[in-house]
Amino acid sequence: MTIESCWQGLGAHADVLKQQHLKDLMLQDGRFDALSFGHEGLLLDLSRQRLLPQTLDKLMELAQASDLPGWIEALFQGEAVNNTEQRPALHTALRLPASATLQVAGEDVVPKVHANLERMAQMVDMLHSGQWRGYTGEPIDTVVNIGVGGSDLGPMMACRALDEFEPEQAKSIEVHFVSSMDGSQLAALLEQLNPATTLFIVSSKSFTTMDTLANAATARRWLQDASELRDEVLVSRHFIAVTASPEKARQWGIPLASQLHFWDWTGGRYSMWSTIGLPIALKIGIDNFQELLAGAHSLDEHFRHTPLQQNLPVLLAMVGIWNINFLDIHAHAILPYDGRLAHLPAYLEQLEMESNGKSVRRDGTASTHRTCPVLWGEVGPNAQHAFYQLLHQGTEPVMCDFVVSARRYTGQRETLQRQHQLSLANCLAQARVLALGDAALGADQDNSQPWQRYRGNQPSTVILLDELTPRALGSLIALYEHKVFVQSVIWGINPFDQWGVELGKTMATQLLAVLDSGDHPRASFDQATNGLLAAIGARRSDTGASS
Ligand code: F6P
Repeated sequence: MTIESCWQGLGAHADVLKQQHLKDLMLQDGRFDALSFGHEGLLLDLSRQRLLPQTLDKLMELAQASDLPGWIEALFQGEAVNNTEQRPALHTALRLPASATLQVAGEDVVPKVHANLERMAQMVDMLHSGQWRGYTGEPIDTVVNIGVGGSDLGPMMACRALDEFEPEQAKSIEVHFVSSMDGSQLAALLEQLNPATTLFIVSSKSFTTMDTLANAATARRWLQDASELRDEVLVSRHFIAVTASPEKARQWGIPLASQLHFWDWTGGRYSMWSTIGLPIALKIGIDNFQELLAGAHSLDEHFRHTPLQQNLPVLLAMVGIWNINFLDIHAHAILPYDGRLAHLPAYLEQLEMESNGKSVRRDGTASTHRTCPVLWGEVGPNAQHAFYQLLHQGTEPVMCDFVVSARRYTGQRETLQRQHQLSLANCLAQARVLALGDAALGADQDNSQPWQRYRGNQPSTVILLDELTPRALGSLIALYEHKVFVQSVIWGINPFDQWGVELGKTMATQLLAVLDSGDHPRASFDQATNGLLAAIGARRSDTGASS
């Protein structure tokens, strides 16, 4: 079948299915068994999607016609799938076991990956054992990761998710994250920290990101103000650089001995598995970090070798294609029923929207299909008290991902176990009501007033984990990474570049020059920008602040 005939066939199939309410589709016998899929401790339940089992067959025909199997192989074999930057995207290589080999441009990358992990393990060990000392000779007890985007969100998300896996030796170190350009997080944090025992990780693939360099400069000045020691001594004892641009980090002042590296073939938002994961390893220990990698590797193997019809990332992606391109749904809510996954929505916002938020195909032509939806989310039970009103009774169709674990708090306080039970009940209730609407009510319950009605028909996926462990988190994140890749193949776009963020950076540099010069009244941008610059200038001179 050609790609065009697959799109057409799916379009005709959607015309029929659009007439049916999900509550009717859900009456079919055997629906859960036919539409739920597993890998290790992970269950993907698609039975509340607005489709039939045969819809999946048709979607897989589209995947096949788009040469998805060929693209998957190209990804794993290190071909230049990032075509605009002419390089591979080898996050999967970062979680290969040491016994594997992967030749890229005539070189086996696996020994390099493991040598880097080994160096990271040594640094973790020095910090955990109190051997890394600050300028007074006291051991470091606080680490602040300075980074943004992929150099912040993945490590922060994983540290929060796996906090309870912190081993005894890691308890000597507190880990913090700072990203905001305006310095508000850092300013508040520095008030509480002791410079003599604080170490900063400057995490930046490019080592040019203005947000990160501005925070790093403030941290450096804080140390200089606290100690008489020479700047080189302070920087070498109190800063680690994690970067793919070692020379830039050295020019900033961080010696090679205090650097950890990764490679330009690791995309920023795919980098938590590399040395960018240093804060994760500090928080949960190297053994648990290895488990995280092993969980991701296991999902990689599943993605590479499982037939499309049972392949979890492919299924998750193709159901997204169905919703976006055939049912016209362009909003996607990520709803973890687990406070430990509080940062998962923010992490996925970058992963999905920075990867597939594009309208130009690999060949430079304009995309003829809608691509990445608007994605947002929140811890589910909290969101119930905030934006679920819109999901239930608003005008917008929204697809939802619920993420929840079956087991939690085993052997712990009864009241906590009860809280998990509550959370599970709410997750199941919301998925059910979103799908069925009023039909979820018993016959004896009256909701006859128009404002009490629930339309239902909002599709959702439930991702059920046996329990949230480092291995399970690794699999979960790899699942989403590959989902994004599959969708990019169907849309024909490159998910591994992010040219759309560049113009803003250039413009900010130009505006900074004007703000620095104080020459606001003579600015020659557009009228709106000139007007604001003048207003800022006037307000600053009123208060005597420097322009
Ligand atoms: O501006 C976007 C971006 O380049 C992201 O892709 C990246 O994750 C983030 O900035 C941080 O970049 P770096 O690690 O180079 O500081």
